[in-house]
Amino acid sequence: MTKKTLIAANWKMHAPPVGWDPEDSPYRPRKDLDVIVFPALLDVHVCLEKFLTVGGQYARPEQQGAFTGDVSMRLLAAHGCTWVLCGHSERRLHHGETDAFVAAQAQAAIDAGLHPIICVGENADERDAGKQKEAVERQMNALSHIAGCVIAYEPVWAIGTGKNAEPKDAQIMHAFIRGLLPADQKSTRILYGGSVKQDNAARYLQEDDVDGLLVGTSSLDAAAFRAIIESAVS
Ligand code: PGA
Repeated sequence: MTKKTLIAANWKMHAPPVGWDPEDSPYRPRKDLDVIVFPALLDVHVCLEKFLTVGGQYARPEQQGAFTGDVSMRLLAAHGCTWVLCGHSERRLHHGETDAFVAAQAQAAIDAGLHPIICVGENADERDAGKQKEAVERQMNALSHIAGCVIAYEPVWAIGTGKNAEPKDAQIMHAFIRGLLPADQKSTRILYGGSVKQDNAARYLQEDDVDGLLVGTSSLDAAAFRAIIESAVS
């Protein structure tokens, strides 16, 4: 079975970009690709009203409770989200999310009927020390009991920096990650994220183990995002 390419737009803490909502918007769902939008939480509903496929950027694993300011996986699902990001590096950095917490999030997401995209990736120090595989293996080991997720390989030094990983280096890491997956999970989709742009998107997608893209900055520009979508279907 061929896997459907997945292109995700992570709008982070930004308003929906200009041009997000017309009928021919590049953020709309398509038959030939999975196009998923991750808006800020308060914009989930407007995106759903325009029939986008919507995910939460984060949620806690607990079903409910005294967690002021937080949201649960179950609430995301109840409000129409079908996807969720788990363990994005900005959450790991600014909110202290640990590998164990990310694994709990992923399990709770599955239990709530959501599709989790779990983000892994080494930081600049780990890359400089040649320890990128060890870093990613540690993150993946925490997930060894979780099945049915999408993985996003996002080297932290490439996120929001404009300094993307070379597609051949991304391929090495994607193949490594696939090698870590259990035998019955080898067809898991593995996305690349980190300074994906309209002029490099196609090169990632040509690599054997790159099954899609998680796009931040360039997803805030509807024309750039349209070009990325087009490079995924051509
Ligand atoms: P970027 O962000 O495309 O701006 O590097 C990617 C991400 O954070 O998922």
